Order: sequence, then C-alpha cells, then structure tokens
Amino acid sequence: KALDGVRILDFTHVQSGPTCTQLLAWFGADVIKVERAGAGDITREQLRDIPDADSLYFTMLNHNKRSVTIDTKNPEGKLVLEALIQKCDVLVENFAPGALERMGFSWERIQELNPRMIVASVKGFGPGPYEDCKVYENVAQCVGGAASTTGFDDGPPVVTGAQIGDSGTGLHLALGIVTALYQRTMTGRGQKVLAAMQDGVLNLCRVKLRDQQRLERTGVMKEYPQYPNGTFGEAVPRAGNASGGGQPGWILKCKGWEHDPNAYIYFITQAPVWAKICNVIGREEWATDPQYATPNARLPRLQEIFAEIERWTMTKTKFEAMEILNRYDIPCGPILSMKEIAQDESLRRTGTIVEVDHPVRGKYLTVGNPIKLSDSPTQVTRSPLLGEHTDEVMAELGYSSAQIEALRACGAI
Ligand code: COA
Repeated sequence: KALDGVRILDFTHVQSGPTCTQLLAWFGADVIKVERAGAGDITREQLRDIPDADSLYFTMLNHNKRSVTIDTKNPEGKLVLEALIQKCDVLVENFAPGALERMGFSWERIQELNPRMIVASVKGFGPGPYEDCKVYENVAQCVGGAASTTGFDDGPPVVTGAQIGDSGTGLHLALGIVTALYQRTMTGRGQKVLAAMQDGVLNLCRVKLRDQQRLERTGVMKEYPQYPNGTFGEAVPRAGNASGGGQPGWILKCKGWEHDPNAYIYFITQAPVWAKICNVIGREEWATDPQYATPNARLPRLQEIFAEIERWTMTKTKFEAMEILNRYDIPCGPILSMKEIAQDESLRRTGTIVEVDHPVRGKYLTVGNPIKLSDSPTQVTRSPLLGEHTDEVMAELGYSSAQIEALRACGAI
C-alpha cells in the first residue's frame, strides 16, 4: 500500500478529522485511534439506529483503524501517549482550540519527544479573532462563503448537504499530511499542518470570490439568474441552480416530477453542442437564429430557453433523457436520490459503494475510497470496537500483560 509503514496517532473525533485519517488508513497507514475508555468518540452513540451498536455515523468514518483507550489526563495514561508519540509519524487531532496543550502536549513538548513527528490539526478558524471558537459543519459553511452563495435569490442563505466543512477540510488535511511526510524525507523534520474549516470551505468557494470581483468591476453577471430582469447588490447573490461557469445550466423537471421529488435532470447548454440541443428539443431554427445562435445572444434568454428545453425533458424520465442526450454528447446528469445511489451496481463494482459486515450491527453500506490508486487498492474493513486493539498496541509498545492489567486497574487505559 502507498502508505505502508506510516503510523498515525489518531486523536480525531466527530467527522472532519476521522475523514482524514480514514483516507490515510485506506492508503495503507496504520491508524491508531485514541479514545477515552468507557466513552470513546462521541459519534459512536450519536444518531444510533440499532440499540448498543456503534452508529453508522461512527462506523462510516472510522474504517480500517485500530482503537485504543487511553485517559490522556491520567499521569500513567500520559506516559502511554508519550510512548505512542515516539513511535508514530503523524499525530492528527481536531480538538477544540487549546485542548491538546491543556493535555500537556504542546508542539514544543511533542517535538522534544519526537522531532520527526508531524502534528496535523483541523480547527474552525485559522489564527485571528475567531481562533478560539469551536466550529461544526454548518458554521464552517456559513463563515466560508458557501451559505451566502447557496439557495435562491428570494430566499434565505442555505447550507448544502455535502459536508464541505467537515469532510472537505479532512481532505485538505490529508493532502497537507502526505505533503509534510514527503518533505520530511528530505529534511528529516516534522512540522505543523493546519487546515482551518473556514479556509477549506472558502477554497471550495473560490469561484464565488472570483464573481465578487467581477461584480465589483462590472456591476452585472450575465450567467446569473438575476440577469437581465433582476437586480444585483454589493455582494455575490445566490445563484439558484445556475452552473456558475461559462456553460449555462439549470435543473429541469422530468416525467413524474409531480410525485417523485427527484425526477429532475441537470442540463447544460454547452456551446459546442447548441445545434444538437436545438435538434433534440425540436427547435432547429434556434441553431441559426441570431437571437439564439451564440452564447452571448442566449444569455438574456436563458429562462425562456430552459423553459423550452424543460417542455422536452418533461416528456422523458430522467434516465431516458440522459440516454438520449448522451448520444449527442450533451452534458447532463439525473438528480440521483440516495436510494438510487445505494442501489447503483456500477458504484459497487468500483468500490465506491461498499457493503461491510460488523460484528454488532451486521451488514451496512458505506462509501469506499473515492480516490483510486492503481498500485495501492483499497480494501474497506470495519471500524474497530471501542478499545478493541488496546492490548495489541500496548504489547507492540513493549508493555507486558501484567503492566497492561495494572494500567487498566488505575484507569489509565
Ligand atoms: N483522555 C482524556 N481526555 C480526553 C481524551 C482522552 N482520550 N480525548 C479527549 N479528551 C478531552 C479533551 O482534552 C478536552 O478536554 P478539555 O476541554 O478539558 O481540554 C475534552 O475531551 C473535549 O474535547 P473537545 O475537542 O473540546 O470536544 P467538544 O465536544 O467540546 O467540542 C468540537 C467538539 C468539534 C466543537 C471541537 O472539538 C472543535 O471545535 N474541533 C475543531 C473543529 C472541528 O473539527 N469541528 C468539526 C468536527 S466534525
């Protein structure tokens, strides 16, 4: 595996950090998750669907890891943690600001113990006025610019279902970690890696900062639904389902939309296939009519154009429409429900949707590794039970069975 031999001391909890360490585990790192005895990651018991079984929230974010329980505020537990710091390559954490230091593990202390250690953190904000604040997903979406630019112009800001604040930042952090590991091969030194959730969300909203500057310069954005009949204010408005790029798009109703909330298709009026679009919807004359023939001419007419295309899509199911449009190379995509995705055979064949067996909860579906490496294939294995690997990891650190029992008796592990 790509990260064979890399040992990760995983101090993460909830979603953002665990997403990161799960990816590293899938790439072959040995991820040792440290949890508090008796409690563990709070998500083990959140949103439970089966009494006493680790929740899907936990299992789906902690595959391929080992779990050890250590009370890191107990003096004996601290010593165990020190031994782990000396043995591992990367410490990943997403505690509230200052928690690691309060535990007695400042950057300086960790460096004393292991100068090669990379310390990687997710925090809500980077250095500045809000650096001490706790942050969850939707807060990150709001402060990173996503919420103000999502939704419809006549409604309030909207958060998206994609977990761009948590899982998105976890991805950013994973890249920072492997980059730091690569630099360490040359410098021999560890370093701090920080991914702030506000920064991660903003990075994913880069095009909206682009649009802010375009708006300030020109006062108008012709691909937004506010053009030509609405008004623009000082900040980038919500763009509904507009594509946000140079190729106008919109979500259109398909056959069955009256009773199926997902009978819709995303349709892109890509310029190179405009003539084909006109043919498919039966408006051949639009291909040459100067009022419709060029992308610029179409911009003030997008609502009318999409309404006309929708008259065609409403005669087809979303899958029929996709089938026909693909024949003409017209970019489009059905709005897939989670039920449809769960049943998608091709996603199962690629390992993007995986069925996993768990000793307490039985079989469940999860999202496998979305990043495929040809020389480092991913096998998804179940998440660990709380403390399942404590004895195994303690033995690897050199503790005898008697010492392990003594540490357990004093509540250190
Ligand atoms: N042994 C002993 N104590 C432990 C421990 C262990 N194994 N693991 C954790 N703890 C302690 C911490 O030291 C901390 O104690 P302190 O407050 O006395 O310093 C305490 O548990 C709680 O940790 P904290 O991170 O503050 O959890 P929280 O539930 O209060 O806050 C978040 C949760 C997510 C809001 C917060 O961790 C956070 O803002 N994280 C950074 C941003 C982030 O990742 N957010 C998204 C999460 S998906």
